[in-house]
Amino acid sequence: MQPEHIIVHQQAATHVAHIQLNRPQALNALNLQLMTELKTALQTLDADEQVRVIIISGNEKAFAAGADITQMAGKSAIDMYNIDQFSTWDTIKKTKKPLIAAVSGFALGGGCELAMICDMIVASETARFGQPEIKIGVMPGAGGTQRLTRAVGKALAMEMVLTGRFITATEALQAGLINRIAPVELYLEEAVKLASEIAAMSPLAAKMAKEAVLKAFDSSLEEGLHFERKNFYLLFASEDQQEGMQAFIEKRAPAFKGR
Ligand code: HXC
Repeated sequence: MQPEHIIVHQQAATHVAHIQLNRPQALNALNLQLMTELKTALQTLDADEQVRVIIISGNEKAFAAGADITQMAGKSAIDMYNIDQFSTWDTIKKTKKPLIAAVSGFALGGGCELAMICDMIVASETARFGQPEIKIGVMPGAGGTQRLTRAVGKALAMEMVLTGRFITATEALQAGLINRIAPVELYLEEAVKLASEIAAMSPLAAKMAKEAVLKAFDSSLEEGLHFERKNFYLLFASEDQQEGMQAFIEKRAPAFKGR
């Protein structure tokens, strides 16, 4: 079935796929259907050998203004428990390929959390990041208190979560939340440029390196170092390792295949 709230753009030549959130009339509010479509698209692209890096974007006005408040408003705690919307997020988190969020305009609540579940964030000058759930009587539920705090530190995270204040792209860059800022007419191009640079590397090495960096967030240093070493050794079972090192010795560009 064709998705209704997302658009998937795929160019085999570049190995970069792009999922665009597409509920512009609601500032891309993340209703359950959109999140299910996003999860399914990510699973498909993660399994597609032609795809090496995935970009998630919204539009110029909004990456996503959060979970859909109208859909949540009348729910009871038991409804929320039964719907279990965060299981979708658990699946998204398992995406092995590098994910880049291309953010313009609002990235609020679940929108900010979705950007933060990605591995890198490219923002337009108009991007605004915030966790305003406190203003509607709740709090972040999809990683906002954890990923934001790890990215920007306690002081700013506490302020954003407790006051709902939005931060600008410049403040987000200074705080370490995002990777780079581009003019609004170029931010998507900038995200594609970054994605293409990564897509030229060994896709196996990229997946295993991503896995190892993420390990730093939920393991001790010793465990993380051990995990890193195992992945490093494992890559010596790949053709890409032989190709990469041989190409260096032969002073030519490597042609990685993902095997
Ligand atoms: C449902 C939303 C929405 C949302 C905006 N819209 N955000 N609908 N859920 N999160 C809708 C509006 O109702 C409106 O629809 C249309 O999008 C345009 O929004 P406006 O408010 O008219 O635009 P503007 O005046 O420019 O203000 C933009 C805004 C504001 C500052 C982003 O919309 C806003 O504060 N939105 C809510 C942000 C928020 O609280 N997010 C956290 C949600 S809780 P109509 O039909 O009137 O035109 C959350 C929990 C996460 O994310 C849990 C994990 C998933």
